[in-house]
Amino acid sequence: TFFGIDVGTNSVKGISVDKSGKILTSSSKPIPMETPKPGWAQQHPEIWWDAVCVVLRDLVAKGGRLPSAISVSGQMHSLVAVDAEGKVVYPAILWCDQRTESQCAKVTDLLGGEEKVIGSFGNPVLTGFTLPKILWLAESEPERFKKIKKWMLPKDYVVMKLTGRVVTDFSDASGTSMLDIEGEFDERIPEIIGIDPRSYPELIGSGTIVGTVSSPSLSELEGIPVVNGGADNASSAYGCGVEKTGDAMISIGTSGTVVALTKQGIPDRSGGIHLFRHVTGRDFYHMAVILSATNSLNWFKDRFGNDLSFESLEEMVKQTPSGSNGVVFLPYLNGERTPHRDPSARGTLFGFSSFHSRGDVFRSIYEGVGFALREGAELIESLGSEMNNVRIVGGGSRSETWCQIVADNLGKTIWLPEVDEGAAYGSARLAAEALGIGTSSWIRMKKEFRPNGDFRAVYDNVFSIYKELYPKIRDSYK
Ligand code: XUL
Repeated sequence: TFFGIDVGTNSVKGISVDKSGKILTSSSKPIPMETPKPGWAQQHPEIWWDAVCVVLRDLVAKGGRLPSAISVSGQMHSLVAVDAEGKVVYPAILWCDQRTESQCAKVTDLLGGEEKVIGSFGNPVLTGFTLPKILWLAESEPERFKKIKKWMLPKDYVVMKLTGRVVTDFSDASGTSMLDIEGEFDERIPEIIGIDPRSYPELIGSGTIVGTVSSPSLSELEGIPVVNGGADNASSAYGCGVEKTGDAMISIGTSGTVVALTKQGIPDRSGGIHLFRHVTGRDFYHMAVILSATNSLNWFKDRFGNDLSFESLEEMVKQTPSGSNGVVFLPYLNGERTPHRDPSARGTLFGFSSFHSRGDVFRSIYEGVGFALREGAELIESLGSEMNNVRIVGGGSRSETWCQIVADNLGKTIWLPEVDEGAAYGSARLAAEALGIGTSSWIRMKKEFRPNGDFRAVYDNVFSIYKELYPKIRDSYK
């Protein structure tokens, strides 16, 4: 069996998978997040590690046997910095932390301006990314900054605790703003931020064996190979079979993503679509991120539909005509990343009259998220990435109506995979492959949603209103 572990923001999750791809057992442990100031988001890496130990032991206990290999994926961008003894010098500053606005501007300037930065690294320097956080530590916590011997990403910290080795992989490194498009750490950066270049983690490919478990806290697993994993988004995509040109994934989770594999690595000059490295060889993927997907629906249901079960909500939305009788929803409850890059944007419900029903409003939530995903997908395609085999995953994909809305809007058939275990499943694939086990048969689809051309015409209309609204009202959000 192979263990896939994912160090997420809300929990550490682990699964045990056999060599045919079947899930045998799973386990998870919640992780707390600290927000000591508005806009800050921190976690203690030691808590991830304790949770990983609990999850690993639980998987062994439930399955009654030791794994052949373990691989770990994790949240992207979050900075872990350790001293010479491997002790954390400051809590991990997470991907959703917003404290580094001035450091982003400063470092972008020092690297020659945004256009140059996007050209070199594939993305603008964003507040959640790793580089501005190192600079923030240098400026705001100089004593602790001086102690930094190594910095790394969340899954790398866990791998360090497991094996004693500090490495990262290309998919995680590409989210740091320090890895150039060619796949090398930029040589100017250590000097610009005043950090020793030896503090960089060693770069090795995903799917390579890093070492074996040597931690005294996990003596029962001693000697088991640990395989380099990847960033959670890349690992999730790999977990539902995104591995060749034309493969794509749409995820309707708390936030929503559109991911499409690309060989060329062409950045989006407007900075709205991310370009990161995949876990497969030298491939890249384009990614659109919308910040509130199921989060929009949950917020609405919680405030205005608490009497509805998810089944009755689903039925009500299914019975409501496509286009929600003209009600349009912009899902910007927590600002928006793609395409607007606007933290001040807010949820907006437009065009309802006293004749509209609750079904119209709820359906408009599903459709607004569908439009946001469509906008991301269209931008990705405009960069030359093909989206032919689209898989849909995440909590929202349990709603057939939501899947159909996405299929109709994209005008493409979309597929629901048999296994939806996110990044942990991608990690388990990498673990198995490192030991020479083929995993392409692991990827099986259980349902397809074909686009309905009649509805597409209705959606085209509402989508054009959706796209017009934001530029008209953006100044009023401020
Ligand atoms: C991607 C991003 C998030 C984190 C969540 O750019 O910030 O999806 O990877 O773990």
